[in-house]
Amino acid sequence: MNYKYPLCKDNLNKSDIQHICDWLSQEETPQLSMGKEVRKAEEMLAKWVGRKYAVIVNSGSSANLLAAWALRCSKMLKNGKVFLPAVAWATSVSPFMQLQGFEPPVMLDADKDTFAMDLNELEKRCKADENPGLVVVVQPLGVLIDKERLLRLKEKYNFVLMEDACAAVGSSYKDGTKAGALGEISCWSTFYGHQLTSVACEGGVVFCDNPDLYNLLIMSREHGFIKNLPEQERQAIIKEHRIEKLYEKFSFIVPGFNVRPTEMLGVSLQRKLLELDDITEKRNNNHLLYQKYLAELKKPYNGFKFQETNGHLTASISFAICSYERDRIVQALEENGIETRIYSAGNIGQSVFWKESNKPFFGGVAQNIHQYGLFLPNFISLTEEDIIFICDVVKKAIKEG
Ligand SMILES: Cc1ncc(COP(=O)(O)O)c(C=O)c1O
Repeated sequence: MNYKYPLCKDNLNKSDIQHICDWLSQEETPQLSMGKEVRKAEEMLAKWVGRKYAVIVNSGSSANLLAAWALRCSKMLKNGKVFLPAVAWATSVSPFMQLQGFEPPVMLDADKDTFAMDLNELEKRCKADENPGLVVVVQPLGVLIDKERLLRLKEKYNFVLMEDACAAVGSSYKDGTKAGALGEISCWSTFYGHQLTSVACEGGVVFCDNPDLYNLLIMSREHGFIKNLPEQERQAIIKEHRIEKLYEKFSFIVPGFNVRPTEMLGVSLQRKLLELDDITEKRNNNHLLYQKYLAELKKPYNGFKFQETNGHLTASISFAICSYERDRIVQALEENGIETRIYSAGNIGQSVFWKESNKPFFGGVAQNIHQYGLFLPNFISLTEEDIIFICDVVKKAIKEG
């Protein structure tokens, strides 16, 4: 069906595509797999986020997998116990079920306002001496978790923090800290439907500040070999393992993957990154307009809620609502040419893959989001009139109930 208001629109334009066509048709065909363009984009990305290192990979899911793997290989984790949120994406959770060295992960409920991890529950469990080695937080859909409180808990209970900011590219805290700059390691997705994308369509980034973690990421991204390590580190490994010249390029040091990006992704990200501030501002404005026009539905409480920005700059991918009248709202949206879907992946603790080896998760807020959550469109050419129209459709559907 062709929607008047699709969930995803305007993420790439004709000139983005022409830019890649021009790059591809240079006199001499450029290197197509990872090379100097990816490295240049990595420098730009690290600077933009405020991290020392950025490592581009072929998807946000690969970024999560690589980040989990690098943490697992590092000496940073005091144990293999992982706390993660039920409201997440499938591949925020699956690496911790796939990789050896992690205990079966512990799922935590969601916060009722942001839909991010419930920090009351995190604190309660830490206080009860559950002692996680790693806490994974998701920045759901671009709405940010309470950073100050999270970092206080990190400090007090001494856990490593991984931030899955795959769906929060562009968002930033009031103090300027960007999504992608929290904890030891963070991930972005540059998938087509997200805030920052590329003509390559699929893509992801891992950010960190620690050089040892960075070296693990660099090797693990590409088969486990040393070819693209910083020169000093490469030479140190060559010396340590007495690697002969002819074997230098093909010495495999860690068990790696191949989640390398293409140069096309590097070229296209360099260009689109220049637009990210404008994209974020527009998405944030749309989010605030939705909050304004739907606020009346929250009082008196009738099971209606939406994701609150708490004053942070919020590059939401879509605007998320929860309502007991979900079925009627879905029908009204469809009838008016407005695309919708369930909230992200819902409660991952209800997914088949989770339930095959774990008890189903029934956190109150996560389950509510699973059963009643919906997306409303947020794209950059959406106008205030469009948002008023969409909100009126929602209000009418609820009031008719
Ligand atoms: C929180 C989160 N993490 C990870 C991913 C996976 O990203 P990708 O689709 O680029 O693999 C997504 C995708 O939407 C996501 O929302």
